[in-house]
Amino acid sequence: MKIANIVGARPNLVKIAPLMREMKNHAEIQPLLIHTGQHYDEQMSDVFFRQMGIPEPDVNLEVGSGSHAWQTAEILKRVETVFIELKPDLVLVVGDVNSTIAASLAASKLGLPIAHVEAGLRSFDRTMPEEINRVLTDAIADYLFVTEEDAIENLVREGRPRERIYLVGNVMIDALKQFLPIAQKSKIGRELGLLDEKDSFRPFGVLTLHRPSNVDSADQLRKLMDAIEEVGAQLPIIFPAHPRTQQKLAQLGSQNHSRIRMVAPLGYLDFVCLLSHSKIVLTDSGGIQEETTALGVPCLTLRENTERPVTATEGTNQIVGQDPQKITRAAHEILSGKVKAGRVPHLWDGKAAERIVDILLREFRKR
Ligand code: UD1
Repeated sequence: MKIANIVGARPNLVKIAPLMREMKNHAEIQPLLIHTGQHYDEQMSDVFFRQMGIPEPDVNLEVGSGSHAWQTAEILKRVETVFIELKPDLVLVVGDVNSTIAASLAASKLGLPIAHVEAGLRSFDRTMPEEINRVLTDAIADYLFVTEEDAIENLVREGRPRERIYLVGNVMIDALKQFLPIAQKSKIGRELGLLDEKDSFRPFGVLTLHRPSNVDSADQLRKLMDAIEEVGAQLPIIFPAHPRTQQKLAQLGSQNHSRIRMVAPLGYLDFVCLLSHSKIVLTDSGGIQEETTALGVPCLTLRENTERPVTATEGTNQIVGQDPQKITRAAHEILSGKVKAGRVPHLWDGKAAERIVDILLREFRKR
């Protein structure tokens, strides 16, 4: 069974690592890796390959950055040629980035079966590019692997056949479980001066921001940064900034955000180490909502909605939106000890990749 695994952007790499690892355990599977090149920097891509033991891509489409239409179209064109040449039995896509929909569309037009890992998540906000990518990918995928119960309902409502939907758990949490012990050896705490004289972490928070709805408007970005600066009066806030955000902040010019410590994007192990020791995480990322829930770390999501509701209903996540007052109030509550209790969702146990590969093999043997 020749499986073409598609990656493009940073979170895809975290999700593909456990899947590629599991596929390697089965002699019947020949896993191929196709990197679209949507992300290409050392810190946005290469470091993840090295640290997570992801094999070198068999093909790199080197598409790079561009407008949504341009990027999606370039991937679509280039990946079709690769599919025709490699003749995979299945195309596996993860997540909701432009690479996910582009590769799915090319596969579907060639009649290749598609597996979508992390299917069915919905923010119900069609202004998010990721929401469009999710809805369209799920409409054409043949195997829909979901991380939470809500996703099943969403897919059934959209007319997807129930027997194609598999609740398997969360591959991002597979990666977290595997790498957390190794991440504890990271030197990032020392490098950032976060350790006390006994080498324990002093209290600190972590911030990430990259969604267009938060960073593309200078006004919005300034408001958020001002609110977080206030939180920074209570503890240092480490802010590994995505290139998109760095560009926007540079355009804002010099601002008075001296309590927010901006650093370059971090590799996986350093970032997981920081997350696991932080008192509070403020983010607009999807994956980080899940990782904090799995780690039991309080998370404030700086968006009006989430496509991962289980992190809020069961986990440690609170959706606080973009209102500065709500953000500072929620942060102060957490820092004064009023921490929301959470539990780890069903099947987020580190075995999702195993379940996915078992199902794919079973289905393939039937063909
Ligand atoms: C993409 C995904 C988003 C995901 C995020 C994770 C889509 C629609 N969006 O957003 O869902 O949460 O990745 O990071 O697919 N850049 C670099 N180096 C890189 C990559 C990007 O400098 O390696 C800069 C470029 O200026 C680029 C900008 O960042 O224009 C944005 O990159 P892009 O891939 O378009 O979208 P992301 O914001 O990263």
